[in-house]
Amino acid sequence: MNELRLPSDGPLSWAAELPFYQAGLAGYSDYAMRMVARKHGCPYCITEAMLDHFLINGGKGLEVAELREDDHPICGQLMGSHADEIAAGAKILDGLGYDVIDVNIACPQKKIKRKSRGGHLLSVPDEAIEILKAVADAVEGSRPLTVKMRRAFDDSNEALDGFHKIFQAAIELGYSGVTVHGRTVEQKYIGPSTWESLRKIVDEYGHEHVRHAATKHQKFMIGGSGDIWQTSDIFAMIEQTGVDVVSVARGCIGNPWIFEQARAMAQRKKGGGQGVGDKQGGDAPRIYEQRDVLLEHFELSMQLYGEQQAARMMRKFGIRFSRHHPEGEQIKAAFIKVKGLDAWQGVLDEFYAVDGVGVGVDAAVPDEARTQVSEESCGS
Ligand SMILES: Cc1cc2nc3c(=O)[nH]c(=O)nc-3n(C[C@H](O)[C@H](O)[C@H](O)COP(=O)(O)O)c2cc1C
Repeated sequence: MNELRLPSDGPLSWAAELPFYQAGLAGYSDYAMRMVARKHGCPYCITEAMLDHFLINGGKGLEVAELREDDHPICGQLMGSHADEIAAGAKILDGLGYDVIDVNIACPQKKIKRKSRGGHLLSVPDEAIEILKAVADAVEGSRPLTVKMRRAFDDSNEALDGFHKIFQAAIELGYSGVTVHGRTVEQKYIGPSTWESLRKIVDEYGHEHVRHAATKHQKFMIGGSGDIWQTSDIFAMIEQTGVDVVSVARGCIGNPWIFEQARAMAQRKKGGGQGVGDKQGGDAPRIYEQRDVLLEHFELSMQLYGEQQAARMMRKFGIRFSRHHPEGEQIKAAFIKVKGLDAWQGVLDEFYAVDGVGVGVDAAVPDEARTQVSEESCGS
């Protein structure tokens, strides 16, 4: 039997060389964040979950889905409750030129109008499968499809059965892969992501091929998510669980350097010696590098939202970025007050005017990583 392989061409071909990507992160992973990530070596990005009816209704909901030419390869993530609506949403993303479409069966946000969506579909597997089928039928093999799931709805045996039923349906319906977040929906963010559950999934489905691929040699791609805070976590997850790719989520907010380092580490592991972005003398982003990224991110955000809204958006990024600076606490306090570009530039002039070594990516891990509590809204 021929060995299964990850795709060597097409929008998922990055996975074989660079086994990581930027996750969907509601309220963060917009064009600006994606471009900053790409410039630091991130090979693939996912949008935040977009509600199907927002896309269908047009206006602002559709505007946020529109793509720019330099934002590829890109996966558009869909979330919805009704087969006909999510099918219409998938057609819209298809028409907008998304390279891959992902279906969200993971978001723990409460149900709306008693109808399940996101992670709540895990508790009603037949409805989840109907949703997956509707998207597959709508797209008719024109582009790869993937799914984001949590490891189960809760810790019951029934919930685990439901997970497997949906996972198997994704394979049978011709999906190219699934990324699993190793927490249950009920768990939200309390307690760790159970990597052991990912290993079991790999044991069970790691030898599946993609049903819609041109050959039977394309491997059904399994991704892992949860508790990826530093570069070493990406490779530890791969080693411990056998997943093909790792989704970087909270760990890349205000920390695009994680991609630069992951790329360098991937190249080193392949025996390529010093890789792109592999810095001499440690991993800490230098102060000038930080300053340049902070300004670029703000300007990109301003292109999207205008100055005031960009300032609101960038304050939360600033809090995370500040952790890479030795005077992080003071800078955080300064970023929180920013209301526009001048004030943002003012913080940069005050704290980032002299170059020097920053705080390393690993040391800059946020408190959230230890407290393991986080809010996820999955709004669009
Ligand atoms: C603020 C926030 C928003 C999120 N939004 C999405 C989303 O829109 N789509 C999605 O698939 N996952 C979303 N997630 C989940 C992450 O992609 C990821 O699976 C989760 O945070 C676990 O990974 P981590 O522990 O490494 O952060 C979100 C998480 C957070 C914290």
